[in-house]
Amino acid sequence: MKIALTGIKPTGTLHIGNYFGAIKPALLLAERYDARYFIADFHALNTVKDAAKLREAVRGIAAGWLASGLDPERVIFYRQSGVPETFELATMLAAFTPKGLMNRAHAYKAAVQQNLEKGEDGDAGINMGLFTYPVLMAADILLFDADFVPVGRDQTQHIEMAQDIAGAVNYNYKKDLLKIPQAAVQENTAVVPGLDGRKMSKSYGNTIPLFSTESELRKLIMRIVTNSQGVDEPKDPDSSRIFDLYRLFADEGEQAALAARYRAGGMGWGEAKEELFRVVNFRLSPLRERYNALIAEPEKLESILALGAEKARSIASRTVKRLRSAMGIDA
Ligand code: ADP
Ligand code: TRP
Repeated sequence: MKIALTGIKPTGTLHIGNYFGAIKPALLLAERYDARYFIADFHALNTVKDAAKLREAVRGIAAGWLASGLDPERVIFYRQSGVPETFELATMLAAFTPKGLMNRAHAYKAAVQQNLEKGEDGDAGINMGLFTYPVLMAADILLFDADFVPVGRDQTQHIEMAQDIAGAVNYNYKKDLLKIPQAAVQENTAVVPGLDGRKMSKSYGNTIPLFSTESELRKLIMRIVTNSQGVDEPKDPDSSRIFDLYRLFADEGEQAALAARYRAGGMGWGEAKEELFRVVNFRLSPLRERYNALIAEPEKLESILALGAEKARSIASRTVKRLRSAMGIDA
């Protein structure tokens, strides 16, 4: 069976965009492939410097995956830090990674650009973890002989870099030591819009957290920005942000019925939001219940992740051994 692998950085709480853009498609993929999904805590360390916040975010993401239906019996599910072979492989890969390749990484370049625009030194506030991020991510992937890496479009450059780095290792030792991974970009997953109409993202502060309480959920939905069309005016569901979100949660019958009410006029935005709240709350409340139960038992979460790490390490240690031996580092 082919291998699918992906990681989520624990830098905040999961939102609806993460669910439809990453978690749900990854869980579908897990039905057809051997899946290895992990929490990229060392990647988060580049930006999250508060221990309590990092710990909380790791548990939140772990509970989020499980509440969304990840079955730890079928998917190897772990935290990156639970597989220290990752860091050994990252050190090996660094020796094969041209510095110039890292200079061209989008995330690093964007950070430099931002500094320069503010009139600061280009590297101000940029740590080595951010600069070498693609090396660590290549290690995450190559360690497990991944065939497919389901990611958002913004991550494809990282996968290309993993391909380049693996190619450099294989070329040097004239051997297929590392499998060349492919990005699996979900072309058909719509970009989930946020409360202000831009892409829903932690960095824009426009998210609907996946596990908000019922009252938070209602408050957030009521905050969605709309145009000034009056109650009586017919409305176009296809250009409505509220309807875009509705579509993600409602079945086809519900969608057709509400679209007809939009077009008929007589329904104001407040009512449209109320309908949205109803369906979102109905579909998310079982997830929320599972999530709350999981979060209340951190030891159970930890033991699921520890068991996953054990399985992951038995694969990872073989990869590292194979490379050590090829490289002449075989103590
Ligand atoms: P954020 O933008 O909130 O920081 P991340 O960059 O941590 O989110 O994204 C984690 C995963 O969720 C990625 O695979 C990304 O493509 C997906 N994702 C994030 N926001 C959205 C969105 N608004 N629509 C669809 N997918 C999204
Ligand atoms: N860089 C990814 C992100 O920001 C997270 C990540 C870390 C990852 N390691 C990975 C994704 C390995 C896929 C494979 O979303």
